[in-house]
Amino acid sequence: MSPLRKKIPLYTSPEQIESLRAASRFNAQLMDFLRPHVQAGTTTEGLDRLAHEYTLDHGHTPACLGYHGYPKTICTSVNEVVCHGIPNERPLTDGDIVNVDITTIVDGWYGDQSETFMIGEVSQAARELVQTTYDALFVGIRACKPGGTVRQIGHAIQTFATEAGYSVVREYQGHGIGQEFHQDPGIPHFPNFASSRDILSPGTCFTVEPMLNIGGWKTRLDKSDGWTVRTMDKSLSAQFEHTLLMMESGPEILTLTKDGPGEGDTLA
Ligand code: MF3
Ligand code: CO
Ligand code: CO
Repeated sequence: MSPLRKKIPLYTSPEQIESLRAASRFNAQLMDFLRPHVQAGTTTEGLDRLAHEYTLDHGHTPACLGYHGYPKTICTSVNEVVCHGIPNERPLTDGDIVNVDITTIVDGWYGDQSETFMIGEVSQAARELVQTTYDALFVGIRACKPGGTVRQIGHAIQTFATEAGYSVVREYQGHGIGQEFHQDPGIPHFPNFASSRDILSPGTCFTVEPMLNIGGWKTRLDKSDGWTVRTMDKSLSAQFEHTLLMMESGPEILTLTKDGPGEGDTLA
């Protein structure tokens, strides 16, 4: 055992597995609650308020609020915003794409997921980006094998996205999750050396959350708020995220929604 080896927490007891499932189940339920409100005229601030009240009403805790000083309950990333967009008073407008990323804590356990929504009629370019990003999430999920490497996820996503003509964001990645928000292993959405050493043993709980851009992969952090990440070239960016638990039989998707799209679906 090299001392450099990361410590990847494993959740294998029935109690741990049920806690993880329950946390992600509630998180998915919140996504379904927000879903009908994600439309033209709604402000992202309004979505944030709904998410905050719903979480508290159910006795649970927003994970993002106060996380390293983050000011809101959810992240809402519109158009060229890659991730960590802060909800604000600008109403969603026909033609926008908006990623809604929600993370909640249920009895000390975290669930984390996001979807990109298309508001009204969006451009063909935006629609194709969003669909390809959705498909890329499942390409990544299907590359997850018990005992396989994290690198296989990034390799599959990068190959798929590149063939479709998109770039993959490199500066933000998926992550282990469980009793912490962000823990080992990091899950890059492109293949690198570090991820070839991280094994997806049964009991590993982690997110896959690819961000694809129409233009280049580089991003720029907004220094005025310290959070908003945009594409460097202002091209459109989309993202989807699920929380997964590796089982002996393969990955279990913990954040499946009742009302959202399923694997292989064409997005409405
Ligand atoms: N939910 C994001 C993720 O997928 C993290 C948001 S952290 C915040 O990892 F502080 F910006 F909310
Ligand atoms: Co995440
Ligand atoms: Co997230």
